[in-house]
Amino acid sequence: MIAPSILSADFGRLADEVRAVTAAGADWIHVDVMDGHFVPPITIGPLVVTALRRATHIPLDVHLMIEHAERQIDAFVEAGASGITVHVEADHDVRAVLAKIRAAGVTVGLSLNPPTPLDAVRPFLEQIDLLLVMSVNPGWGGQPFVEGSMEKLAAARRLRTEVGARFLIEVDGGIKPHNAAQAFASGADVLVAGSAVFEAQDYAAVIRALRGDRAATA
Ligand code: DX5
Ligand code: ZN
Repeated sequence: MIAPSILSADFGRLADEVRAVTAAGADWIHVDVMDGHFVPPITIGPLVVTALRRATHIPLDVHLMIEHAERQIDAFVEAGASGITVHVEADHDVRAVLAKIRAAGVTVGLSLNPPTPLDAVRPFLEQIDLLLVMSVNPGWGGQPFVEGSMEKLAAARRLRTEVGARFLIEVDGGIKPHNAAQAFASGADVLVAGSAVFEAQDYAAVIRALRGDRAATA
């Protein structure tokens, strides 16, 4: 599956951008929420999610790069989030935050940054539907794919088998048509792509290219 990240969209025409990638074959819309604390930038909040919810019928995959996610989960769910992913490194009780997302009835995601070992998420694997492997340090779109992330995806897939879990593996950061096939082969079920999609002229062509359609030109 392909989840375009709106971080690289034209925010002045956000609803049109989301309608365009939906029509172009996106599976999910990836929504990057940053609080100026967990990561330096501030991006968007629930009001924007409400607007996105009106613009598309596909799932809204909300990636919270924030501290104390427990304070914001209800607002994002009410706004229309289909799934919420929180960071294992953030200053909150991860087990309690994941339980709160579960209780809210949306998809439960947990993410880890490139320097964080996979062992950090191991205690929570029975609680999650989605493991988001960051392949850049979070905060900005358009950064280069961090070396070693393919191996981390493969290790995540082995860990999933080892514990007998069913969570999806999502990769986020530096995904382009040239490395998408390797990311899928390494273990990713869902590719997030921000700059690769929104800097392309033809959204449908780049989404086909990310999926590995050889006829695509992007
Ligand atoms: C980074 C965000 C990503 C970002 C990816 O902190 O979590 O979702 O939009 O952008 P690209 O695909 O340009 O690396
Ligand atoms: Zn993201």
